[in-house]
Amino acid sequence: MIDLRSDTVTQPCDEMRKKMATAIVGDDMFGEDPSVNELQEFARKITGKEEVLFVPSASMSNQLAVKALTAPGDAIAVLKHAHVYRYESGAAPLLSGVTMLQVGDKRGIISVEEIGNTIPPDDQHYPPLTLLCMENTHNGQIVPIDNIKKLHEYCCEKDIKMHLDGARIFNASVATGIDVKDYAKYFDTVTICLSKGLGAPIGALICSNKQYAKKIHRFRKVMGGAMRQSGIIAAAGLYALQNNVQHLSMDHKNAQHLASGLKDLNYLEILGPVETNMVFVSYAQSKISGEALQEHMMSKGVNIVVDEAKKMIRLVTHRDITMQHIDHVLEQLHCFAS
Ligand SMILES: Cc1ncc(COP(=O)(O)O)c(C=O)c1O
Repeated sequence: MIDLRSDTVTQPCDEMRKKMATAIVGDDMFGEDPSVNELQEFARKITGKEEVLFVPSASMSNQLAVKALTAPGDAIAVLKHAHVYRYESGAAPLLSGVTMLQVGDKRGIISVEEIGNTIPPDDQHYPPLTLLCMENTHNGQIVPIDNIKKLHEYCCEKDIKMHLDGARIFNASVATGIDVKDYAKYFDTVTICLSKGLGAPIGALICSNKQYAKKIHRFRKVMGGAMRQSGIIAAAGLYALQNNVQHLSMDHKNAQHLASGLKDLNYLEILGPVETNMVFVSYAQSKISGEALQEHMMSKGVNIVVDEAKKMIRLVTHRDITMQHIDHVLEQLHCFAS
């Protein structure tokens, strides 16, 4: 099956499975799992952050950041389409007692002016805005480093902390040539996901400066994310960071190949530039049925997810998708039209 629904569907390769099977493990609750420690140490070096903690998921990592950087009753600024806002089941207000204020555009860019306008008046009626959450990439779009730099300067001035949901920060880094460290330095906390384009089966990393490490460590336990012989999965994460980063550029090439082939189909319209591994298309201007298209593709061995309400399809390339797969997908999309 050619699965274009998400880059979360990747299967661990044989080498990765071997690393998992032979990982030396210990009880990580005592800090004694050598494989977890090695992964955390490696991630410290490549992100330039003082502390890194291995957690089960990127959602947990984001929520640990919100918990560490805020106090109950605070307000946080989040992108309208951010994962931390839309797709974490309301965890931030539930777990950290914060109000979420929406900012930014579809590309993940937030202007300094907008943040300025979002800061509530210093008055008893309003919660203080203490955290800005960004996402890079955001729906496959790269947030320019200059935008991040300007926000950082402004947020320092206003004593607003910054968190980066960098679930796909390596996609941004590979596409721009900007080191992950150079993105990470502007943020108090950074989430890295190992189980998206990087291809590990499970796991994420919460990277922070020392001052937040104790709180993050404690709340990982509170949230049930402290694990035991987790070196089995950390070994996969380390393999992913050491071997799978450069392959992301192939995913980006495949996304470009897909996008250029889609231009020949008049029932689909590409939405926005394709900057990394995601292609969004709309069928709003045509008479086709999204469900019929989905069924047709499934019958030809292609799994896609269709948003019938928005008449939109998100196609995501990843390490289990080849250029030949993309050619097959394009051929079948042409077949559907004829
Ligand atoms: C941008 C972004 N952040 C965070 C997450 C959460 O990842 P997880 O499924 O590991 O919790 C996702 C998941 O798709 C995501 O796309």
